[in-house]
Amino acid sequence: TKIGHTIIIILGATGDLTWRKLIPAIYNLWLDGWIPGEFAVIGVSRRKYTDPEFGKHLHEGVDKFSRQGKAKKDHWDVFTKYLTYLQGEFDATSTYAAIGKQIKALEKKWNATANSVFYLAVPPNQFEGISMKIGSSELAENKEKSRIVIEKPFGHNLESAINLNTLLHTHFDESQIYRIDHYLGKETVQNILAFRFANALFEPIWNRNYIDHIQITVSEELGVEHRGNYYETAGALRDMIQNHLLQLMCLIAMEAPISFDANEIRNKKVDVLNAVRKMKPEEVHKNAIRGQYGSGWVKGKKVKSYRQEPDVSPSSNVETFAAVKLYVDNWRWQGVPFYVRTGKRLNETISVITIQFKPVPHHSFPVEAIENWQSNKLILNIQPHMGIQLSFQAKQPGLKMLLNPVHMLFNYHDTYTGGTPEAYETLLIDVFRGDATLFMRADQVEAAWTILMPVLDAWKANTSPNFPTYDAGSHGPQDADALIAVDGHNWITIPFEKNEIAS
Ligand code: BG6
Repeated sequence: TKIGHTIIIILGATGDLTWRKLIPAIYNLWLDGWIPGEFAVIGVSRRKYTDPEFGKHLHEGVDKFSRQGKAKKDHWDVFTKYLTYLQGEFDATSTYAAIGKQIKALEKKWNATANSVFYLAVPPNQFEGISMKIGSSELAENKEKSRIVIEKPFGHNLESAINLNTLLHTHFDESQIYRIDHYLGKETVQNILAFRFANALFEPIWNRNYIDHIQITVSEELGVEHRGNYYETAGALRDMIQNHLLQLMCLIAMEAPISFDANEIRNKKVDVLNAVRKMKPEEVHKNAIRGQYGSGWVKGKKVKSYRQEPDVSPSSNVETFAAVKLYVDNWRWQGVPFYVRTGKRLNETISVITIQFKPVPHHSFPVEAIENWQSNKLILNIQPHMGIQLSFQAKQPGLKMLLNPVHMLFNYHDTYTGGTPEAYETLLIDVFRGDATLFMRADQVEAAWTILMPVLDAWKANTSPNFPTYDAGSHGPQDADALIAVDGHNWITIPFEKNEIAS
């Protein structure tokens, strides 16, 4: 789709997100020629800044975080002309009047109606005030061209998510709202749909008849860093599983879409969420586990426990690790467990989805031949090693029959030259184009909360002082091993042949 003239109004322009992610992404898009026509960025925040000061601040961010490295002077000199700064309070009507005036002036200059994209790069407690002001200042009237972008958290539980959606809908049509889940912008995540639906080979076996179970792991070495304030209100289940991991699960479990229309894809995904079996309160302890990192060593560095992190209560019972076992009650997936886990301060930073196939129905080989037997596995490596591996049995060369697992590997690094766009580049360009396929629709957000509410409620009710912990740098709490071991499986922590696929 051709991108028309576009004005990006970033509310919260002096914050971290703008600095680290948004401007570097916009700069790279511009550099690569993805932003044709006229465009402008209006940064809005409370801090006093002149345009040059604002530009300088953003320049530093680009130099530090841009995927394409430092900005060349002559490039930046051109790019900086697109940036203006507007000082204003978010709760003052005058701020929105000033934004409106700037939009009008640009449209007059361009002699065209522009897309106006309001990007709320602010903490969630400001969503309400700002979106109401945008609405009441009539900046959202053009249903085709004006859009609002918000970042998670989309509520704190089901009830607050519904309230937030209701509020947004008072001034915006759903089609104007772009809820970001940055995982959906990742190349390897988008490739799940290509892999499944652009190949005839895998789809026929992509079901309960052939698949034993599925594992989705997002593990991080990082701790909570400077985000203690936010994290204390969230925890791993809200921060990661409610959004990123359930979205990955949807892409794995959804039915084939009829087209790539935004609502068609999102309908198919929400069908998955709606089919996830609701846990009964008494089942939560069996199907969901949590833990919090204690102190320990991560890659040779001594690190603090979660409770010692800045802005974290020394008696906090917020989980930094969560694992859940879910079932999708439909024809395709009946009885196939989806094990989903995530945690901070683990031994490895890796996001990976494993499709574990069922064993062969009958072993024809002599017992000695199959000592190293492994059923077929398909591993989708999301990050940092980007690629797909399929493992199968082969005869080891030699005079006796000995079977070993071997791997077929597709790896981005060797297959494609040129970089991969950052998630924010993909997502921003989609907002400019008006393509909401990779964004969370209101019903998806609510369906995801519905799945997790029994767990959140049970965890809230249990405030035992003996909160389960795990050592920083370990692979997580032992309870997580038990969660999967009771079904006779174990977590596939590190994809085999890691060195082979290092990028
Ligand atoms: C964010 C979470 O949404 O995703 C963070 O709030 C987490 O806690 C981050 O660290 C992980 O994203 P990525 O892209 O580094 O895997």
